[in-house]
Amino acid sequence: MRTAIIEGDGIGKEVIPEAVAILDYFNETYDWGIEKVPVEVGFGKWERTGSAITDEDIAVLKSCNSILFGAITTVIDPSYKSVLLRIRKELDLYANIRPILPIPGIYKLLKIKDRKESDVNMIIVRENSEGLYSGIEEIGDEKSTTTRVITKKASVRIAAFASNLAAGAERKNSLTVVHKSNVLKSDKLFLDSCKQTAESKGVNVSDKLVDIFAYDMIMTPEKYDVVVTTNLFGDILSDLGAVLLGSIGLAPSANFGDNQAFFEPVHGSAPDIAGKGIANPMAAILSLKMMFEWMGKKREACLVNRAVSAAIHDKIVTPDLGGKYSTKEVGDFILSKVRQLDAASFCLED
Ligand code: NAD
Ligand code: IPM
Ligand code: MN
Repeated sequence: MRTAIIEGDGIGKEVIPEAVAILDYFNETYDWGIEKVPVEVGFGKWERTGSAITDEDIAVLKSCNSILFGAITTVIDPSYKSVLLRIRKELDLYANIRPILPIPGIYKLLKIKDRKESDVNMIIVRENSEGLYSGIEEIGDEKSTTTRVITKKASVRIAAFASNLAAGAERKNSLTVVHKSNVLKSDKLFLDSCKQTAESKGVNVSDKLVDIFAYDMIMTPEKYDVVVTTNLFGDILSDLGAVLLGSIGLAPSANFGDNQAFFEPVHGSAPDIAGKGIANPMAAILSLKMMFEWMGKKREACLVNRAVSAAIHDKIVTPDLGGKYSTKEVGDFILSKVRQLDAASFCLED
């Protein structure tokens, strides 16, 4: 198995090494035979070479089974095209999975009393290939347009993915389609395609307009299990969902295509804190945990989860969670916990 490692820009360079240290531990201890393939892409590379990502980089990524990715700075300059969007498109990573599942103990740490962790367990399934991210744009001085593309094919594809997830052992067989069909008539195609697909798979399906869903997911998160939505709505709702997690630095994600899987924290390169060594590495580490789950390494995923929860319990956390520990100190603590729990045969029952 080949795993590309993209640190990217800003705090991507700080959080990914902490996740890689855990990957190295398991890979070396259990002889997994994972070949790590470092790939340098991003804004830093653009500044240095004039190109943020090359065709060769894409070829290398296509030769890998999985990719662990930090974050990339996307500047607001028409000549700069998002590297992340190019990778998603070229590898056809059409399903972006963003779980909203709080780490056990986080509400206690943050003194959140009006909410129960057990009430929050939803997965946002974001259509990742079209919508307002179609790339079809006409940019002018007086008028600029971006075409929002909804196709039946992509809608059915993402609905099938979300329905299969909802029907899975740990879910409640419930799917909510989030859309804006009252205004965007194109969303009727998305809504109808999702409903039909879910029904054909025996999944209980309902729908919500995106504006009230944004309110509802914070007010009554217990109502939601798996949520499927279009590209930009999924982007925005997943950052909003991180409020329920306690920090944007705790939100992991996975992007799946038919051939590859790509794991990344939901957050960006955070230029405001980059270089200070205080970024929360947990979103990156939990993204690695999602990679372990995808690999069928359930026990290792469980060990990582427990180790992250132990850091929360012992208050070994970065400033976003009210702590004073550095990225590296938190990463080192989680790795040492992983080793300790592994040696003590934890998670065997899972
Ligand atoms: P951001 O997620 O980088 O940061 C938003 C806020 O959250 C900042 O105050 C930041 O300090 C904080 N934050 C983010 N991650 C954190 C962490 N792990 N620990 C502690 N605090 C954390 O969003 P932004 O500021 O809007 O974007 C910055 C750059 O990142 C932009 O160029 C944007 O295009 C890019 N971006 C990239 C990705 C990606 O590559 N996946 C995702 C989002 C944004
Ligand atoms: C994300 C990011 C990206 C997106 C940007 C950086 C292109 O915000 O992964 O959530 O909009 O999808
Ligand atoms: Mn985003």
